[in-house]
Amino acid sequence: MTLAGTTFDLVVAANRLPVHHVVDDGGGWRRSPGGLVTAMEPVMQSREAAWVGWAGEPGPAPEPFREDRLYLRPVSLTPVEIQEYYEGFSNDTLWPIYHDVIVPATFHRTWWNTYRTVNHRFAQAVAEVAAPGATVWVHDYQLQLVPAMVRALRPDVRIGWFDHIPFPPVELFAQLPWRKELVQGLLGADFLGFQRTADVSNFLRVCRRLLGDSTTHDTVTFTPPGGDTSVQRTVRAGAIPISVDFKGLDALARSPEVIARAAEIRASLGNPEILMLGVDRLDYTKGFKQRLKAYEELLQDKAIVSPTVTLMLVALPSREHIDAYRVLREEVEATVGRINGEYSALGSTAVHYLHQFYPRAEMAAMFLAADVMLVTPLRDGMNLVAKEYVACRHDLGGTLVLSEFTGAWNELHEAFTCNPHDIEGLKQTIMLAITTPGDDRRRRMKALRRRVADHDVQRWATRYLESLASAPSRPGRPPTGP
Ligand code: F6P
Repeated sequence: MTLAGTTFDLVVAANRLPVHHVVDDGGGWRRSPGGLVTAMEPVMQSREAAWVGWAGEPGPAPEPFREDRLYLRPVSLTPVEIQEYYEGFSNDTLWPIYHDVIVPATFHRTWWNTYRTVNHRFAQAVAEVAAPGATVWVHDYQLQLVPAMVRALRPDVRIGWFDHIPFPPVELFAQLPWRKELVQGLLGADFLGFQRTADVSNFLRVCRRLLGDSTTHDTVTFTPPGGDTSVQRTVRAGAIPISVDFKGLDALARSPEVIARAAEIRASLGNPEILMLGVDRLDYTKGFKQRLKAYEELLQDKAIVSPTVTLMLVALPSREHIDAYRVLREEVEATVGRINGEYSALGSTAVHYLHQFYPRAEMAAMFLAADVMLVTPLRDGMNLVAKEYVACRHDLGGTLVLSEFTGAWNELHEAFTCNPHDIEGLKQTIMLAITTPGDDRRRRMKALRRRVADHDVQRWATRYLESLASAPSRPGRPPTGP
């Protein structure tokens, strides 16, 4: 069946499609990794829409196809484009700059050229599948030029962009040799969504300082390149923090299979008194080293003993061709080996380290099994793992240790807050999470669950799409601006 010529009123563009093509294990399509897909999947399931994205393998794009109500429109990437657009410019230039330069950023003009070429390919694919007057929702830092490129191809459509990661302060953003082009690319949108108000402020400051545009509250008056003020546009920016499918996760974690599996996980670890858990992509932004250091020192100080207290560390494989990620993996695995050499005994392991992907139900069982969830990023746009953990704890068990450098920290006030750079403080917070009386822990979990249930991913999507529909005004306000 050919689907060519089909158009949609809602078009999503993200670097990855929600499923990726696998060549091994008999081939077929599997759910793509990452927080963006986890968040967007439940939102898109109920909508008739197109999703434009990369199918996860090099070479020509597979034919467009349908998955339930979603029309998937794959975009091709050659092996060189994967290196230069995805691993290079997106994840070795932008990613470090947008995450406080935890590792140095790499600048290559060839990577930038490829980023532009690939963004243009995405924009063309969007323009092809968007119906007249459609809503186009572009996602994340990999596609920052797409809003302006789509506007040039299809001035009739309404364009939004959502930033899943932090937006950096102007002092860091200004390091980018292509800083103006990137902001101009974004300002092709009608509405720009961010995780935190701090990200909105950073963005507005970038517009003032680097483009000389004027800003009022949350809008930018943007004069496109060329300086012709007759084509000035007003673009609105707003903080709309992303969330998780609370109902879906809650139901999954209440299923007898997941409850039984959680008990099985604890039993397989020797039924520790306290099971601590960390689940993250193996990324230098996530604070793996700080978490392991605090744990090792607590064992050294004899504040905790293995196997009474056990740590399960799930490191989801990520971006393995990029040097900084390779180095991190070596360091983490060497540290885990050292801790286990020193503090494990025959039949009991101090750190259970797993470098694999797991299905949703298994993750829910891990969350339900863990007494203390360690979320210690050095910088994170949101951190959906923190919200997933809360959504799975229908028993009101478990405590959340949460870094103040995550977007989630701005909402999850009842978590045990930590600064992962402060190892002494992190150790104290972990001990507090372990020793706080059960009543207080349950009260905190109840409040956390209420917050995530009220602000779930469906509400996020609705708020985003309403903001986009009414931009540059706020939803429910009369139109303003040129
Ligand atoms: O939001 C950060 C992000 O890059 C998402 O776009 C993606 O879902 C996730 O991290 C995983 O990254 P990657 O697609 O590079 O595996």
